[in-house]
Amino acid sequence: MEPLVLDSRTRLLVLTGAGVSAESGVPTFRGMNGLWENHPVEAVASPEGFDADPALVWRFYSQRRGGAADVKPNPGHDALVRWEQHLGDRFLLATQNVDGLHERAGSQRVVAMHGHLFRTKCADCRRAPFNDTSVHPSGTVPRCDQCNGRLRPDIVWFGESLASEDLERIGDFISRRDGTRLVFLAAGTSGAVWPAAGLVDQVRAVRGDTWLVNFESAANTERFHHFVQGRSGEVLPSLAALS
Ligand SMILES: NC(=O)c1ccc[n+]([C@@H]2O[C@H](COP(=O)([O-])OP(=O)(O)OC[C@H]3O[C@@H](n4cnc5c(N)ncnc54)[C@H](O)[C@@H]3O)[C@@H](O)[C@H]2O)c1
Ligand SMILES: [Zn+2]
Repeated sequence: MEPLVLDSRTRLLVLTGAGVSAESGVPTFRGMNGLWENHPVEAVASPEGFDADPALVWRFYSQRRGGAADVKPNPGHDALVRWEQHLGDRFLLATQNVDGLHERAGSQRVVAMHGHLFRTKCADCRRAPFNDTSVHPSGTVPRCDQCNGRLRPDIVWFGESLASEDLERIGDFISRRDGTRLVFLAAGTSGAVWPAAGLVDQVRAVRGDTWLVNFESAANTERFHHFVQGRSGEVLPSLAALS
């Protein structure tokens, strides 16, 4: 197999999804068959779901906070840290994961497109999101100490838009003109959640090279120039040739 060449003329955009955290023990939505305690995940990860039953949503995120607190980064996360150390500002990691494992592994140039599991914001006022490891498993809904509104996890839910500054940072990286060639690598993502699933085409539009590392074929596999089928923790550590 030809290697992913990361040399001084390359800039690399990486997109990760839930599959990259799977080997750390964080379940993917697909691994849960799209269900949590028989509720479709869209019902516990959407503004409509929160309005209908905020206590249920907090039970779901309490369980996710509990699960993600006990896990460790895996060799897939570590490989991305090494690539960033090699490339510096010619590296950007866009992740759909909210578990914070990339940051815990040591990645620094990270765009958390879908938000942060260990951050909370107010559903009713504009106070800044804040770090929060609290859990509310018994069906209470925490209240805002500034407006007494309902607090909610700082997650981009199904049906919500991504932060414009996050999309701009990714777009600027893709369109950067500094004489380097753009390479895009997506790992552990089903290719079914937008706008992340469209990044491969944004990169192709500027003639970038595109790689997919995934356990199964993704919804958009045929859009990539290279598809390496396997687990990210096994494939990523030996995929790149750093020079
Ligand atoms: N860890 C997390 O933070 C987490 C966990 C579950 C879901 N989510 C959210 O769920 C949404 C679903 O999108 P998604 O595409 O990221 O996840 P997904 O659950 O829809 O798909 C995961 C993909 O990863 C692949 N995969 C599973 N194990 C793998 C491994 N070890 N190595 C490589 N690939 C593997 C699967 O084949 C699948 O295609 C996103 O919005 C994301 O924010 C996040
Ligand atoms: Zn408030």
